[in-house]
Amino acid sequence: MPFKVKISDGNEILVDEGNTILEAALDQGIDFPHGCRSGNCGACKSKKISGDIEMSPYSEFALDEDEEKQNLILACRSVPWSDCEIKILTDEEDDENNNLEIKNLECKVVNLKKVTNDIYVMNLSIDNKEVFKFKAGQYAELYIGKCKEKHFSMASSPNAGELEFHIKTLDGGEVSAYVKNNLKIGEAIKIKGPYGNAHLREKHKGPIIAVAGGTGLAPILSIIKYSQEIGSKQPINIYYGSQSENELYSIEQFEEMSKINENLKFYPVVIEKPKNKILRRGFVTDAVIEDIKDFDGYKAYLAGPPKMVEVAEEILITKGIRKVDIHSDAFYTPYDEIKEQK
Ligand code: FES
Repeated sequence: MPFKVKISDGNEILVDEGNTILEAALDQGIDFPHGCRSGNCGACKSKKISGDIEMSPYSEFALDEDEEKQNLILACRSVPWSDCEIKILTDEEDDENNNLEIKNLECKVVNLKKVTNDIYVMNLSIDNKEVFKFKAGQYAELYIGKCKEKHFSMASSPNAGELEFHIKTLDGGEVSAYVKNNLKIGEAIKIKGPYGNAHLREKHKGPIIAVAGGTGLAPILSIIKYSQEIGSKQPINIYYGSQSENELYSIEQFEEMSKINENLKFYPVVIEKPKNKILRRGFVTDAVIEDIKDFDGYKAYLAGPPKMVEVAEEILITKGIRKVDIHSDAFYTPYDEIKEQK
């Protein structure tokens, strides 16, 4: 006799004896989050509210002992032995420290380096002994000189003492002109944050695809540094696109990280024919679909020019990644904002 499983989204399914909740839910047309279907990625993590559920073996990366004590289950491994009720975890419920306090910080420029024709890397120390808690991938408002505030993503890990930002300078931009001509080491900068939802979902243990363009590399760098620090073993594929090879930066840093971590793969891709024959040529989104045929269990982090983010999102959705598993941060320049308003 099948068991009734109530799912907190209002659905109820029937699960035949010996069958898993995930298989039954998918057979019955429920959009249940899932990936590997074999207890390895954690994408189907849910909370048991009531009933008797037995789980077949799974990886501790997908569900650890503490989570099991909190009645969390993997639906792909869960066989009910009575009627029961479960709750699908949303990303936000699955994410501790969800609402971090917005802080105002007094910072000081400790390093400023031009890394391409128009991109600067700026490091700030935090002056007022504040601990700035943020999630890898988030951004802050920066008040540089007397310019109007602007948003920049942290490129540093949340564990680092200093903050790193990548600033693309644009002709005619107020902040750009100030950074190029006036900004000095030791200068005070106020920042306010953190903000943004395109941050690393730490409980997801499945593979990651990160697509970055321009200074969209900054939040991706923060995500990668942090996931290395917490000893993440998940496969991470980073695709970094630009118009020409002169616009690429931080390549060595990523190459070094991928030498240390065999699960980390880094692919710079340029549109114009590169002098460096090792570089891949084409659109970054084409490289993604050329390389990855099965996106089951993936989460995607996208950051950079709005058009690139939009195209990457469309492609990933057509390849089967659910919208809720795509975390995007489109970097609007003043020119993009004017175009949007037209
Ligand atoms: S752990 Fe259940 S789908 Fe991957």
